[in-house]
Amino acid sequence: MDASFDQLIARLRSKPRLAVLTGAGVSAESGVPTFRDAQTGLWARYRPEELATPEAFARNPRLVWEWYAWRRQLVAEAQPNAGHRALVSLQQRFADLALITQNVDGLHQRAGAHDVIELHGNIARIVCSRGCGPCSEFDPRGAPPPCPHCGAPLRPDVVWFGENLPPDALAAAHEAAASCDVFFSVGTSSLVYPAADLPRRALSAGAMVVEINPQETALTPLAHHALQACSGRVLPALVEALDMAAA
Ligand code: OAD
Repeated sequence: MDASFDQLIARLRSKPRLAVLTGAGVSAESGVPTFRDAQTGLWARYRPEELATPEAFARNPRLVWEWYAWRRQLVAEAQPNAGHRALVSLQQRFADLALITQNVDGLHQRAGAHDVIELHGNIARIVCSRGCGPCSEFDPRGAPPPCPHCGAPLRPDVVWFGENLPPDALAAAHEAAASCDVFFSVGTSSLVYPAADLPRRALSAGAMVVEINPQETALTPLAHHALQACSGRVLPALVEALDMAAA
């Protein structure tokens, strides 16, 4: 690794407050396709933006429900990767680390992360589309089953395009971005707001911003350190370098 990486390790050794925002790229090495990857198989002719909307669900609830059943299956078969595990190691080493994710796959939690701030919900949870609350018993096949309370169709507990983020999660993310010393943006295209605003808030509050992404994004020119490689490689290298520096 280069001088920039060594500087980053030196900064991390002073035990700063950390905020980490993750996106679909963190799960790419687990075999979960990112949002802006082309879809495969049966779903290749749809774009996620055409399925992950309240309008798509109103128009064709069965199609959207089946797409989520397929994605839920894909996630169930996936395993957390070295990047997820390295973030758990960082949580163990930094008492003050807020882990914020746009991912709905629950892989951070399956790797052992705690207190994950889920900005876009979780694909494993199901809720009433009219707002009665969560529902734990449901048939994932066919059309969306009715809510046992009001009869409205059940839906995945995820944020769709055009919907508001869960207010508590967004408030916790804003607080973490404003109060951290170092902000990591990992595996996200930094295109979807309000999540994409978080590193910018951290910058305005004086934090160091680090991006981990093999591709350039809109955030890259603003970041203090842009580590252009896969998170499954960079995050474990970071943990290893920290441990070596501490030895
Ligand atoms: P995207 O699919 O937009 O971007 C994934 C990013 O991960 C890209 O910038 C890739 O370069 C990067 N990437 C790919 N493989 C990687 C790897 N192995 N290591 C690190 N980075 C890698 O996904 P998000 O930015 O998460 O929202 O998308 C944000 C939101 O847009 C999603 O949560 C979803 C969406 O469409 C909703 O559903 C509301």
